[in-house]
Amino acid sequence: MKTVLTYGTFDVLHAGHVRLLARAKALGDRLIVGLSTDAFNALKHKSSLLDFDNRRIVLESVRYVDLVFAEGNWDQKLEDVRQYGVDVFVMGDDWEGKFDFLKPECEVVYLPRTERISSTLIRQELHQLEAREG
Ligand code: CTP
Repeated sequence: MKTVLTYGTFDVLHAGHVRLLARAKALGDRLIVGLSTDAFNALKHKSSLLDFDNRRIVLESVRYVDLVFAEGNWDQKLEDVRQYGVDVFVMGDDWEGKFDFLKPECEVVYLPRTERISSTLIRQELHQLEAREG
């Protein structure tokens, strides 16, 4: 049983997320996802439209995802890798090189991001729509 791990906020889930999750799952048998808590997002100055429970429910419904757990701080990754018996650690290539410190524990893979889509873009478009509608 090969376990794959990835992390993210996964706000307003979009095709870029799903493509990342599909490719991550294809690298093993089980995909587990560390989902940023609202407090951790605030710490990172990252905004999200949906709160943790909403994001978790949507993420859990994705066919490639086997387990979702909370990511509450920057320093838990090594412990998570050990606790969940992770074989492959996957992130989008916007994080290229940032998690190479995990290489003694597991394989570390950076996958190309899908172009022209992001949660930030969707949030911006929603805000513009809201502004236009007054
Ligand atoms: N991702 C991707 N392609 C995209 C957007 C995200 O492959 N177009 C990947 C990221 O590289 C990351 C995972 O999906 O590994 C979760 O990304 P997240 O930061 O939650 O999504 P973004 O859409 O990038 O969010 P934001 O715009 O709020 O930064």
